[in-house]
Amino acid sequence: MTAQQPIAEQPAITVRRMDFRFGGDTPAQFVDGNPFVSAFLAALSSVFPEGERFFIDAVRHYRDQLDDDELQEAVRGFIGQEAHHGREHDTFNAWLAEQGYPIADKLERVREGLDMARRRMSPRRQLATTIALEHFTAIMAHQLLAHPEVNERLHPEVRELFMWHAVEETEHKAVAFDVYQAVDGGYWNRVLTMLEITLLFWLDTITTTANFLRARGENKPGNWLRGIGFLLGRPGPLRRLIPEYLAWFRPGFHPWQHDNQALIRPWQQKLSDAN
Ligand SMILES: [Fe+2]
Ligand SMILES: [Fe+2]
Repeated sequence: MTAQQPIAEQPAITVRRMDFRFGGDTPAQFVDGNPFVSAFLAALSSVFPEGERFFIDAVRHYRDQLDDDELQEAVRGFIGQEAHHGREHDTFNAWLAEQGYPIADKLERVREGLDMARRRMSPRRQLATTIALEHFTAIMAHQLLAHPEVNERLHPEVRELFMWHAVEETEHKAVAFDVYQAVDGGYWNRVLTMLEITLLFWLDTITTTANFLRARGENKPGNWLRGIGFLLGRPGPLRRLIPEYLAWFRPGFHPWQHDNQALIRPWQQKLSDAN
């Protein structure tokens, strides 16, 4: 038996109203002129607004069953942050559509998929799905926050959006998880749901990336190689996700066993100066 890893304290969850604008001089290939990685981030952005509404509903369902005031407060912060993320990504998605990314079709498919999930899945499965996807967002956010050699490749306007989102995903990374624990969601439910979500997430993200590249006339082997080289080779943000992803499968896992609060502090300061 290994000793239980310490769990860092839940940081404050601040709901920040932002008003991002895109257009200026942001190119359609907004990550280092790399079509594949740009389409990959566009694919992620296309699922955020509807996906985050799904998370909010999944957590809200259990709100009345929580008798811990601090957790209630954290849930309020979580809902506020996710609602704002959806709004800002709507603005970004509208800009992506103007650049020829086929966003409308994708949004329609996401909506249909999530409507079906709401009808077919029990509230407990919906919450397990939420915590699995929140783990993905948290570990991807960590890659952006921890590696300037990754985030500095994003065009400044897009970088601001993704860094703000990464900070808030970190602040609330354990909220849905804590709700899940509070209502005894169970180990096997979270592990099996994660396996299923992993498959669906990568299938959906890669298919969407390919569709976006195709629509923009960029679906070429060279672009795939360069994109995969960036994501898995150098700087390799997806390769570096693997150990953090695997941590999920430990029975005693908790998101704040990985204490990365020091990384968000400079950004929190920047955001409070800007607000
Ligand atoms: Fe979010
Ligand atoms: Fe989130």
